[in-house]
Amino acid sequence: MNLAEIVKLYGTPTYIFDIDKLTQRIAYLKSKLNYDLVYAVKANTFIISELAPLVSRFEICSPGEYEICTKLHIDPQKMVISGVYKEENVIAEMLKNYDILKYTVESVTQYQLLSRLAIASQKPIHLLLRLTSGNQFGMTKDEIKDIIETHNREYLIIDGIEYFSGTQKHNLNTINKEISDLHNFIIDIEENCHFPINEIEYGPGAPVYYFQDNSFDEDTFLSELNLIIAQLNKKVTLEIGRSIAASCGTYLTKVVDLKTNQVGNFAILDGGINHLVYYGQMMAMKVPFYDIIKKSPQEEEATYNLCGSLCTINDIIVKNLKLPKLEIGDIFAFKNVGAYSMTEGISLFLSRELPKVILFKNGKTYLVRDTYKTSKLNFPNVEE
Ligand SMILES: Cc1ncc(COP(=O)(O)O)c(C=O)c1O
Repeated sequence: MNLAEIVKLYGTPTYIFDIDKLTQRIAYLKSKLNYDLVYAVKANTFIISELAPLVSRFEICSPGEYEICTKLHIDPQKMVISGVYKEENVIAEMLKNYDILKYTVESVTQYQLLSRLAIASQKPIHLLLRLTSGNQFGMTKDEIKDIIETHNREYLIIDGIEYFSGTQKHNLNTINKEISDLHNFIIDIEENCHFPINEIEYGPGAPVYYFQDNSFDEDTFLSELNLIIAQLNKKVTLEIGRSIAASCGTYLTKVVDLKTNQVGNFAILDGGINHLVYYGQMMAMKVPFYDIIKKSPQEEEATYNLCGSLCTINDIIVKNLKLPKLEIGDIFAFKNVGAYSMTEGISLFLSRELPKVILFKNGKTYLVRDTYKTSKLNFPNVEE
């Protein structure tokens, strides 16, 4: 992938998602983890079609995500509808459109809604009951057991349990403990409710190491994770977003101004924290992985604060970075931005444009979203 060519063609700021790299990433994860992969589409909706032949399901958490997947003709048998709030009319419409859909149940109220809609539509619904990890998501063990003991077996097919307790989880001891708790709960259900749990959808929150001072032996981590999950001794699907999508993404941004004052050197870039979010970044002190495309080679070095274009002192991507002397027009290519970065930034602040999104596949580039003026969204449409 020739980034300089891509900048020439599309300009900056731009996200580029490398589909060949994404395909290799999935192959790597599959070589390490003996479980089917479910892609949490919230991580990046632009790569859904490319992932369709590579993952077993898509986790869809909002009507918007459902609309995107439907427009992309994702097989309904590959959809699991999740999320804390499911509007009745949206679920009713989904049931009308598709005979087979699977839903994650987040609360007793949601369970009652799904039960009512299944009976009214005379269509059986497949359910995964989400176990809470102690926050607003999922249900308690007692609530789950209650549902299992009383559910209408004609219309509700309880396939199993869903459990996700957080993202960027790198402590295998913590994961081991939660898997062991989950295992005991499954045994409890099977022995005391006399009900077989056929499937567990587990979100490991597999971590991505974003910064240059991190060291991470991912091969060993994933092999151990694989062994820990094997304790469940069930059909397990792994619901993953970040670890699938992050590495395929690069964000291209240009130096548009340079200045020096009593504090130091500042490079102003045409993008910033409205487009670029690195989980775990602290006061811009950590250095993410990046490349520089220089306008001309420079022997001399200087230390810079790399800042975005927002009107806030917080818009700093990296502080105190030693670099070859910068010129206006130099390009930074920030790595590992394929998951969440484009959606977690404060993209509406200052009414700056949203970057283009490019897919790179088999040596070709495809513009899948043009620049978008957020001034349209921040404009008050007052009727005359
Ligand atoms: C229910 C659920 N599953 C899976 C994920 C994906 O997590 P990650 O991106 O850490 O893999 C999330 C992320 O918020 C989630 O809420």
